[in-house]
Amino acid sequence: MENFTHYIPTKIYFGKGEISALSDEFKQRARRILIVTGQGSVKKNGVFDDLMDQVKKAKIKFFEHSGIVPNPRLESVYEGIEIAKREAIDLVLAAGGGSVIDAAKAIAVGAKHDGDVWDFFERKAVPSSALDVGCVLTLAATGSEMNGNSVITKQDSQRKLALSTPLIRPVFSVLDPEYTFSVNSFHTAAGIADIMTHVFEQYFSYTEAADVQDRIAEALLKVCIDYGPVCCKEPKDYDARANILWAGTLALNGLIGEGKAGDWACHGIEHEISAIYDISHGAGLAIIVPNWMKHVLNNATRKKFVEYGINVWGIDKEKEDSSIAEDAIKKTREFFVSIGMPSSLTEVGVPQDKFKDMAKNAIRSYGQVGSFKKLTESDIVDILQRSV
Ligand code: NZQ
Ligand code: ZN
Repeated sequence: MENFTHYIPTKIYFGKGEISALSDEFKQRARRILIVTGQGSVKKNGVFDDLMDQVKKAKIKFFEHSGIVPNPRLESVYEGIEIAKREAIDLVLAAGGGSVIDAAKAIAVGAKHDGDVWDFFERKAVPSSALDVGCVLTLAATGSEMNGNSVITKQDSQRKLALSTPLIRPVFSVLDPEYTFSVNSFHTAAGIADIMTHVFEQYFSYTEAADVQDRIAEALLKVCIDYGPVCCKEPKDYDARANILWAGTLALNGLIGEGKAGDWACHGIEHEISAIYDISHGAGLAIIVPNWMKHVLNNATRKKFVEYGINVWGIDKEKEDSSIAEDAIKKTREFFVSIGMPSSLTEVGVPQDKFKDMAKNAIRSYGQVGSFKKLTESDIVDILQRSV
């Protein structure tokens, strides 16, 4: 295990009705807040009304920036920054899924900056301050509610890039499983694929002897396998939604990645796909992950796949290692398909003509793609070809 510093200061209010904590949070932290929302789900499912009750109780002034789309756009971030600067906002409150939270985070860091916020994403500048960010999460997927990442798309150049800084880690997040009851089956499943992939990206690592992290990771995967299908079929099953919600947060808040080298190849590749074709992030991952697994399986990596197959899928450990590893990959793909995820790029309308550009851009964006197995441009093209 490698050395690490573990510090996750986000305050989590977890459970039914926990939004009631917000009036006190507002009173302590803010006088003028900017509420960031998506394309209307929070207005339909009652989340916005509950939020308004808290705003009124705290007697603070609020402004609204709505219409954030999945794979959030830089333009809407610029609009939010303008409001935040003009109205002297002191806290940006995201009410929605990962896209809304990521846009809110970019607004928070852009509001304290005189230059172009995109420079932070292109790594031409490093942020030194940000407004406080708070969240009311409505979709279990990204872990954005407890991490310091924001992923934004600049459409004219078809670039989707991530900014990672503790400055934008939310100061508090409300996680009420009932707020996820209204998520449809497709987005629920895409969220589960995303959560599982966050675990894979940290689990499949060359770092040895990080057993604490890996046993927690396996538990998170098993929770997704057990409760994911329940959430898709019974959207109002509180305990299923609660377990998936908390798994999503723990999968990407730092906990299981501490002291280990992360891989992140599947994310690097998927971000290039959704940057151009605007597909759902989780659906893209469900297509790429099993093909990445097949591509990286070799004599050096097999041991980790065997561990995964036995501990997560319960495959008989007396079988040959090669058959355990292949079985585990097969089960991963079958699970994604069983919850309604696509299994090929063709299914989601992604043609083959830009595979080389995507591979080039993935390496350009991240410097290196993959560490469990370092990927070259031709490796990435191979994974994309396998995914057709
Ligand atoms: O826009 P609204 O109307 O809110 O509808 C959304 C959207 O259409 C809907 N939705 C959300 N909560 C709902 C609901 N519908 C009904 N009831 C509810 N309670 O779901 C749709 C998808 O929402 P979105 O926020 O886009 O999904 P997700 O949370 O999966 O976020 C995806 C974005 O996050 C990025 C992805 O790349 C993508 O841009 N990621 C962010 C990460 C991070 N910040 O750490 C890490 C991830 O790996 C990922 O890259
Ligand atoms: Zn993800």
